[in-house]
Amino acid sequence: MTNSAKYFDEIVQSRRSVRIYDQESTFDHEAVQRSLERATLSPNSSNMQMWEFYRITSEDLRKEVAENCMRQKAATTARELVLFVVRPKLWRERAAFNLGKMKASFPEDMPQKDKERALSYYEKLIPTLYNNDSFGALRSVFKKIYAWYVGSKRPMYREVTKTDVRITLHKSVSLAAMTFMYSMKAEGYDTCPMEGFDSKRIKKLLDLPKDAEISMIIGCGEAAEGGIYNKRTRVANKEVIFEK
Ligand SMILES: Cc1cc2nc3c(=O)[nH]c(=O)nc-3n(C[C@H](O)[C@H](O)[C@H](O)COP(=O)(O)O)c2cc1C
Repeated sequence: MTNSAKYFDEIVQSRRSVRIYDQESTFDHEAVQRSLERATLSPNSSNMQMWEFYRITSEDLRKEVAENCMRQKAATTARELVLFVVRPKLWRERAAFNLGKMKASFPEDMPQKDKERALSYYEKLIPTLYNNDSFGALRSVFKKIYAWYVGSKRPMYREVTKTDVRITLHKSVSLAAMTFMYSMKAEGYDTCPMEGFDSKRIKKLLDLPKDAEISMIIGCGEAAEGGIYNKRTRVANKEVIFEK
């Protein structure tokens, strides 16, 4: 095992969902910023980065958000809360961002045909998948039928509906959340991911964009005594890890 693997194992083994945070110890809010900057480097579908991260640092706002996390201690005692949010409507901007980067990186002698093929990913395929802005449900039906038809003849990507795209966005932001939590552990802090909250009230409270979906809220701090509620339990590896 490499030294990096040993350090990483230490982080993975010691990370726990902490439900009560110490109120007295110093908390370095910069560690949250650094960890979020690392989180933005997480893998994400088609590099579309349709995520946003909201740091709740003011005490008053933190109290109100925690109230809407059903007063869970992991939220009420957190020294900072971070919202991991997806934004389905950002697809145009993000496709344009990727197109721009792609065009800028083409070698001068690249054949025009190859350029066109590469660009069509963000010019054609991504809009087809991500444009669910209006008539999303109807578009989904057509896309599903198309995928089913083509899929009956050759291998075809099947996750084409508006709901499938939402799942993709939540997958990507979850990977960012994981990077964030491991980074916070490496910085010497604990975290707790939460989905037990009133998304509607929190969106209103924070004046989030209409299309925003809060994937997780993560409480951060240093574990207080008794902050870890129970021993970690997992089903046996052989029940979940298969070799075919
Ligand atoms: C998507 C997601 C949502 C979760 N929501 C909550 C929550 O609302 N409240 C909470 O106390 N823990 C929550 N957890 C933490 C899990 O209960 C915890 O990860 C699990 O019990 C395993 O424990 P460990 O993280 O200490 O290994 C959530 C975890 C995930 C991944």
